[in-house]
Amino acid sequence: MNSPEIGIGRRYLTETRYSRAGLGEPRRAYPRAPLHKEYPQAQARLSLKPEARPQPADLWQCLSQRRSQRCYQERPLTQEELAALLWATQGVTLASQNYLLRAAPSAGALYPVETYVAVHRVTGVTPGIWHFRVQDFSLEMVREGDFRRPLVAAGLSQNFLGTAGAVFIWTGVLNRARWKYRERAIRYLFLDAGHICQNLMLAATALNLGVCPVGAFFDEEVEQLLEVDSQEEPALYLAAVGPLP
Ligand SMILES: Cc1cc2nc3c(=O)[nH]c(=O)nc-3n(C[C@H](O)[C@H](O)[C@H](O)COP(=O)(O)O)c2cc1C
Repeated sequence: MNSPEIGIGRRYLTETRYSRAGLGEPRRAYPRAPLHKEYPQAQARLSLKPEARPQPADLWQCLSQRRSQRCYQERPLTQEELAALLWATQGVTLASQNYLLRAAPSAGALYPVETYVAVHRVTGVTPGIWHFRVQDFSLEMVREGDFRRPLVAAGLSQNFLGTAGAVFIWTGVLNRARWKYRERAIRYLFLDAGHICQNLMLAATALNLGVCPVGAFFDEEVEQLLEVDSQEEPALYLAAVGPLP
């Protein structure tokens, strides 16, 4: 089983399979992370309007027009556009006693994916790294500044990460999902992130904005930019967004 030909990926998939013989590894106690990440000491906060949604768009047309777009106009994104994109990715669509159900699905409704936005050019939003607070549809500032250069560097010199108006950065809080799904939770983190990014792309298409998903990045550099703990909350996925030329 552990022969050198079997790579770590194959081993991970094997060891986290559900089968009739058992649901993966024996139960192990993982700590349970809070449902939401919060930045009580944030230097700045910005409430956005979740209802800032554009005119209706045709789903079938958006599906057929969606492309990964890497060229953007210089004009800034508007705050309304950013709000609409955030809503499409993580907007609350049904609040019940125990859950804030969102526009994108999540295994066990645990929502382990956190959303950060590196704001380069968005009207009325100070450039910097912001964290999205799902509970009240607001942004809280993690770090102020122009992070275009370090983000491009972290993204293997993919320049569109700097020419975009904003870059969505998704991390996964491992212990928000692992207490329930154990190591299988890692599969679900990436599936969750995929759903979220597809929602972003379709919403951007409806708004005539361009998005390019990015999986190629130096993990540690992205995590350092966000000031997150790489062991507890690794970076999963990025997406650059900007107005189409
Ligand atoms: C998981 C994933 C990672 C990706 N990473 C990158 C990336 O790092 N850089 C990039 O330019 N495109 C990236 N892409 C975009 C793909 O290149 C693109 O989806 C593919 O060429 C198909 O084109 P389309 O999205 O326009 O249909 C990624 C897409 C996915 C789904």
